[in-house]
Amino acid sequence: MSQPPLSYEKYLKLDTLLSAQSPLSFERGRPAHEEMLFITTHHTYEIWFKQILFELDSILELFGSPVVDERSMETVVSRLGRINLIFRVLVQQVEILETMTPMDFLEFRDLIFAASGFQSFQFRLLENKLGLRSADRLPFHEKPYYVELSQEKAKLARDAESKPSLFDGLNAWLARTPFLKSEDFQFWKEYQAATNIMFQHDQDFIQQNDNLNAAEKTRLLENIAGSRRMFESLFDKNEYDRRLKNAEWRLSYDAIHAALLIQLYREQPIFQLPFRLITEVLNLDSLMTQWRYRHSILVKRMLGQRIGTGGSSGEDYLRRATDQHKIFEDFYKLTTFFIPRSRRPELPKSFASQLDFAFKG
Ligand code: HEM
Repeated sequence: MSQPPLSYEKYLKLDTLLSAQSPLSFERGRPAHEEMLFITTHHTYEIWFKQILFELDSILELFGSPVVDERSMETVVSRLGRINLIFRVLVQQVEILETMTPMDFLEFRDLIFAASGFQSFQFRLLENKLGLRSADRLPFHEKPYYVELSQEKAKLARDAESKPSLFDGLNAWLARTPFLKSEDFQFWKEYQAATNIMFQHDQDFIQQNDNLNAAEKTRLLENIAGSRRMFESLFDKNEYDRRLKNAEWRLSYDAIHAALLIQLYREQPIFQLPFRLITEVLNLDSLMTQWRYRHSILVKRMLGQRIGTGGSSGEDYLRRATDQHKIFEDFYKLTTFFIPRSRRPELPKSFASQLDFAFKG
């Protein structure tokens, strides 16, 4: 039997999708015009969250295999790029909701009590799949975030916490970088030597500079000594492990080495894709923070000092969450340890040829 031709409406299930924007104020006979925009905006966010989760799940699956096929890294980088583009739209979209004034919001705000974006299951799933740890979260009324979800959703969100996240996948993948173990070039040893030369040079420059008085020299030399101590803490594995335990770092020691190697020598053909991957992750972290910040400003604009419909301290809670709910912070911290190109250890030819894509047939 032949199927009836598919229509646009049927294919997209538009009846279901478009029946969901039904303002409560209209149903209750007190129509508040702006409520439609409020609902539509939330729906578009949730639909984009769904797409982001779909992309993220496929990335986690690729990272999940014991040996990640390097050919799949292009897919990972492209999909992360797509997630970031969506996030850019999500940040910008806040402006549309800001065309609703606080007075307009007050017309229907009481009706939506105690519903809150805090109960967005997809947002929690996203945070957990990216790698936000429970211990790093701000408590909400001294309780964990999942008490605000239904039992079934809370279980799913917590299950996601116990599975490898994007952070975990990236951390393990970086730590496996084969070039760290090369006999031709011992990156860590060479890098340490290069930083020693750099600091010695800076120190000599200050000491021999006749344009600086004694007090200025002392201040600048103390600055260099401070930077040097910071670098030394990275070279001392025990010290690094202590800081890792203290949650001052999150990436493993090997992953830190790999992330530095890739970024210092990013022009090498084999590091170009890994470099783009790190860049996308930095972009993602930045966009998540931008979204949180933008949302907190929206909330300040709409509520002032009022508490949220979910009962939090409103803008104050959201601002603190913006500062604290970070996942890929280590990649930013690592920039401290970059050294100028001119000071990088030179790669021996035997090693550099392993990083090449050139066809040697
Ligand atoms: C008039 C517009 C909005 C207001 C006044 C508002 C208010 C708030 C407040 C006060 C909170 C803190 C929890 C609470 O006490 O309720 C919150 C959390 C949240 N809202 Fe909104 N919101 C608005 C729009 C949106 C939109 C469009 C989204 C898109 C999905 C959203 C998603 C979230 C999320 C995910 C959280 C949890 C954030 C976290 O815990 O880090 N909100 N919102």
